[in-house]
Amino acid sequence: MTARKRTAVLISGRGTNLQALIDAAADTRFPAEIVLVFSNIADAPGLARAKSAGIATEAISHRDHPDRESFDTAMDDVLRQSEIEIVCLAGFMRILSDNFVRRREGRLINIHPSLLPAFKGLDVHRRVLEAGVRISGCTAHFVAPELDSGPIIAQAAVPVLVGDAEETLAARTLAAEHRIYPLALGLLASGRVKLENGRAVFADSSANTGVLINPLR
Ligand code: GRF
Repeated sequence: MTARKRTAVLISGRGTNLQALIDAAADTRFPAEIVLVFSNIADAPGLARAKSAGIATEAISHRDHPDRESFDTAMDDVLRQSEIEIVCLAGFMRILSDNFVRRREGRLINIHPSLLPAFKGLDVHRRVLEAGVRISGCTAHFVAPELDSGPIIAQAAVPVLVGDAEETLAARTLAAEHRIYPLALGLLASGRVKLENGRAVFADSSANTGVLINPLR
């Protein structure tokens, strides 16, 4: 078996997507190994998930750095020291500098709680409900310098139900995130998806990267 890809997960909060990645990677046949969890928040609850899985953690506060570039450089140093090959953003509440993104282009992915390119940014579920769309979802994508953009690797469609509140829609969407993020990481780590000329190129045309969540089940 080829070596599993050394992967870091970057978090700022509770880390449920991190947990989904840890759980997937607990199977040694999974092509990525989570070797580092990094946070810009020293007491991010998600760090405890890493510790209980025996994964190394590192926290550096952006507040200790004068600007975005110097924080990103410090973060990049940590990633290099751990010989990180793939970086997964999982609720990492920082805009990354173009330099950081370019340096790791094709090896840097994110999970976002909408069907991109719709509803980029924050407060997604509130805006989804306000817009009255009947189907929402989530997207795992390569990171490009512009916020919440970049070629799509996997998506799940989630129904918006009559009577939904932000919390209920968020919970339904989150469960779908937990399904597609490990799927996307697995595709990238195994080389079955690559970023080429600004597009996600799949090695296998039968790769099933669209998930429909059925509300009636
Ligand atoms: C998720 O909804 C993710 O899509 C967004 O931030 C949230 C992180 O949640 N980028 P968690 O920390 O993984 O539970």
